[in-house]
Amino acid sequence: MVDLVANKVHDEQRQGEAFAPFANDVNQYNKKFYIESYGCQMNFSDSEIVASILQTEGFGATRNYEEADLVLLNTCSIREKAEQTVRKRLTEFRKIKEAKPGMLVGVLGCMAERLKSKFLEEEKLVDIVVGPDAYRTLPVLIEEAETGQKSVNVLLSREETYADISPVRLDSNGVTAFISIMRGCNNMCSFCVVPFTRGRERSRDAHSIINEAQDLFDRGYKEVTLLGQNVDSYYWIDEANDEMVTFAKLLEKVALVSPQLRVRFSTSHPKDITDEVLFTMAKYENICNYIHLPLQSGSTRVLQLMNRTYTREWYKAKVNRIREIIPDCGISSDIIAGFCTEEEQDHEDTLGIMQSSAYDMSYMFFYSERPGTLAARRYKDDIPEEIKKRRLKEIVDLQGKLSYESNKKDVGKTFKVLIEGNSKKSETEWKGRNSQNKMIVFPKGNYNYNIGDYAFVKVADFTQATLIGEVVI
Ligand code: SAH
Ligand code: SF4
Ligand code: F3S
Repeated sequence: MVDLVANKVHDEQRQGEAFAPFANDVNQYNKKFYIESYGCQMNFSDSEIVASILQTEGFGATRNYEEADLVLLNTCSIREKAEQTVRKRLTEFRKIKEAKPGMLVGVLGCMAERLKSKFLEEEKLVDIVVGPDAYRTLPVLIEEAETGQKSVNVLLSREETYADISPVRLDSNGVTAFISIMRGCNNMCSFCVVPFTRGRERSRDAHSIINEAQDLFDRGYKEVTLLGQNVDSYYWIDEANDEMVTFAKLLEKVALVSPQLRVRFSTSHPKDITDEVLFTMAKYENICNYIHLPLQSGSTRVLQLMNRTYTREWYKAKVNRIREIIPDCGISSDIIAGFCTEEEQDHEDTLGIMQSSAYDMSYMFFYSERPGTLAARRYKDDIPEEIKKRRLKEIVDLQGKLSYESNKKDVGKTFKVLIEGNSKKSETEWKGRNSQNKMIVFPKGNYNYNIGDYAFVKVADFTQATLIGEVVI
């Protein structure tokens, strides 16, 4: 694996923020590519696989799209707004391409998969369209596009996991990294486009995951996040050792790489997270006490329409079980406001579960109908926009209060913090996360800490998003 230098953290990635790689070694390649990623962590992780494939073809990454021979957008389809953002960005690239006709523009990821060759009709400047399972064919597609043909490959696969490809870490802080452990999703939540854009679920060879974690650790990384749309259904048969590797087993194996290597994972599905996973988390100090457990809705009736396959009671019981086995576990959620047929009482039910779960943090959205999904085919998107927005605001406001309460409870506590870099505000302060995934900033003082070190920090104060503390020895 090769690093392309330094210091951007991943904290805003789930909000769909784009990023471009920064390359210090770009001049050693004869061609340059520029990539922007939108959407979830899986997409960011895929961009690192794409960077690796392109590098072997003689493309170096650049942060400056104006000097790029190839501009790539790794896109997201999860909500309409995500697609609009990409469309807007493409119009900006059109102007650049007019001045530089040889530059190729490629669209990757979920929007490429959803729209397929329609993309080429709708967006004339796009030369290449590649779906999430077809990145290995990029070199051929680029070659084709260089001759002036438009090229498309959106074939989904039942096997592809890119297991053997060593990701080129883009915009890495050198401390934290993602590892994809599976691809696709079999769940068919009715609102969700992911099963259509990413195909069937498949798990990656456990050995290749552990080797990647070991390699990262050997190169100074201190935290890995295991990624999948539904990590609890990870399942891989190790034929050589006659072993069935479940997600709990995989977590354990990665934790055993080193007690100094933190392990996180995302995303857990409330129907699938097992006691075995919770006990494994409790057993290993370096498996972080943090679970992202998307609720979506607190109403059993709406959950049923969403095809989430759990009830409100089941969800509550899961949260209780987590708190029983891992008392100091951080829990966060995803919530959708205004799903089809949602009534005021359903919305109240959502607020109720948010309260009882006492989430530290949530990602909150209003429902956006996605073409082709079960919900789009079966139900009317019947909640007026102003009601969706009002309910979303109530959800956001409540989460604000819950986050405040959660942070307030941390005042006076001491946490082990993995230092990720300078704080946003000042070079005299470090920032890092505790096991519960909360960001903590603290003055560097006269201590000789470096990025990638662990420090014990006592919390003295807080804002809604950050804890503020002091080193304790
Ligand atoms: N696999 C993950 C989620 C992936 S998508 C899981 O199952 O939790 C991330 C989040 O986007 C979802 O949890 C959901 O809250 C939100 N989302 C998905 N489709 C949406 C839609 N059509 N409208 C609004 N939000 C949506
Ligand atoms: Fe979408 Fe549901 Fe799969 Fe998550 S579990 S990716 S929400 S279908
Ligand atoms: Fe978006 Fe695809 Fe991820 S739709 S959220 S980039 S799996």
